[in-house]
Amino acid sequence: MLKSPRKFVAVTKWVCEINWRLTGLIIPFVLFIIFFSLHYSTTSNGFNAFYPVEFFLRLPCSGESDHVLNKEELLRSKIAVCLVGGARRFELTGPSIIENILKEYPNSDLFLHSPLDSDTFKFSLLKSAPNVAGVRIFHPQPLPENESYVRVLTAHNSPNGIQGLLQYFNLVEGCLTMIRSHQQKNNFTYDWVVRTRVDGYWNAPLGPQNFVPGKYLVPPGSSYGGLNDRLGIGDLTTSTVALSRLSLIPQLDSAGFNNLNSEAAFKAQLTTQNVTHVAKRLPFCVVSDRRYDFPPGQFGVPVAALSSPGPLSGAKCRPCTAVCQGLCVETVMESVEKGWSWTEWENGVLELCDAREGWESGWEKIFDGVAGKKLARAKKRIQFMKMGECVEDFQKLRKRSTHWSAPPEDEICTFGLTPH
Ligand SMILES: *[C@@H]1O[C@H](CO)[C@@H](O)[C@H](O)[C@H]1NC(C)=O
Ligand SMILES: *[C@@H]1O[C@H](CO)[C@@H](O)[C@H](O)[C@H]1NC(C)=O
Ligand SMILES: *[C@@H]1O[C@H](CO)[C@@H](O)[C@H](O)[C@H]1NC(C)=O
Repeated sequence: MLKSPRKFVAVTKWVCEINWRLTGLIIPFVLFIIFFSLHYSTTSNGFNAFYPVEFFLRLPCSGESDHVLNKEELLRSKIAVCLVGGARRFELTGPSIIENILKEYPNSDLFLHSPLDSDTFKFSLLKSAPNVAGVRIFHPQPLPENESYVRVLTAHNSPNGIQGLLQYFNLVEGCLTMIRSHQQKNNFTYDWVVRTRVDGYWNAPLGPQNFVPGKYLVPPGSSYGGLNDRLGIGDLTTSTVALSRLSLIPQLDSAGFNNLNSEAAFKAQLTTQNVTHVAKRLPFCVVSDRRYDFPPGQFGVPVAALSSPGPLSGAKCRPCTAVCQGLCVETVMESVEKGWSWTEWENGVLELCDAREGWESGWEKIFDGVAGKKLARAKKRIQFMKMGECVEDFQKLRKRSTHWSAPPEDEICTFGLTPH
């Protein structure tokens, strides 16, 4: 499917060289075309005189030349979308993921890996996902913490210590296991794996420029001393490295790494396996109920208003009335540590909440105003869901899934819908 990206890169490099060598010729040529097009701009016969100029300007001559795929190529390729984590606020995030990732690439297959809790019933919304390849919902069990893990990882800044990190790594790597098993059973391999989180709220579609052959794509910012691990996109080779979060730890151990948080371990994992990464801004934020100091200090966490124009590249967010915009954001973000919780803020993309308390009253209305009617409806359905609807929706989801491994529907629904 990927028609020799190498050849393309070689050709663009060659054109780039000529481009530079011939700058002396091209400048007069461009001037001529501009003159020509201005002169004839009244004769609108559809010919775009700027096309040759745009063509040369668009060539990736500045530094690295990554082959950029177009949407059509991607729609013909095999894409696995890996969704991991607890359902938490899935009534807010789920429909945005369905619209902006799954429906944007209707050829993609969804893999869901999540621990069972009282929010799991919210996954019933996935009955409207285009293709569901695998669902694995499990009773969470403590994972063994052996010496290797304890040496390499740090509990610092992880709400549930090393165990929390291991649980998270297990979720991510488990998704790779599901993908491999599906590939084996059906005798094919995926071209791409999009790994994203259940608690991501997307306010715009995932664009084709985020699929970069031979490199692993991560969002910039929120890097906490390593690499932002709130989303990743890569081909099967790079994704296999990126998703092997538990099984690569012994290798990090023998390479002498220690005291790593999730982001630092992720970075070490890629570099030791010679996977290069590329950072691109992405239109999602991670919806969080956690409270944070405001204004955030050097190592504090800025919490974005869900209504920020974005792209927020996975920064923490919540629906709020923004208390800090424009100059205030500039002041706050200049004091936030660049290699830590910092995120892109320029040009009004970011507006901040005061997250010292819980979500403000009336947040539902704020969310509906931002997300629009369609998403508001999904939220309402979950808010007022009855046992019968839940079981019915889950049965629909199960029937649509190629692989299904989960507790019985009524266990999932009872857990979420009866007071306890
Ligand atoms: C720790 O556990 C993992 C997975 O069970 C294993 O691969 C690794 O070798 C173990 N390391 C040590 C030092 O026991
Ligand atoms: C799997 O696919 C390959 C090539 O695509 C083919 O040669 C092979 O026979 C297939 N195996 C099975 C079990 O279908
Ligand atoms: C990564 O590259 C280095 C230097 O080229 C090499 O020594 C090492 O074996 C490579 N590691 C892997 C896992 O490919």
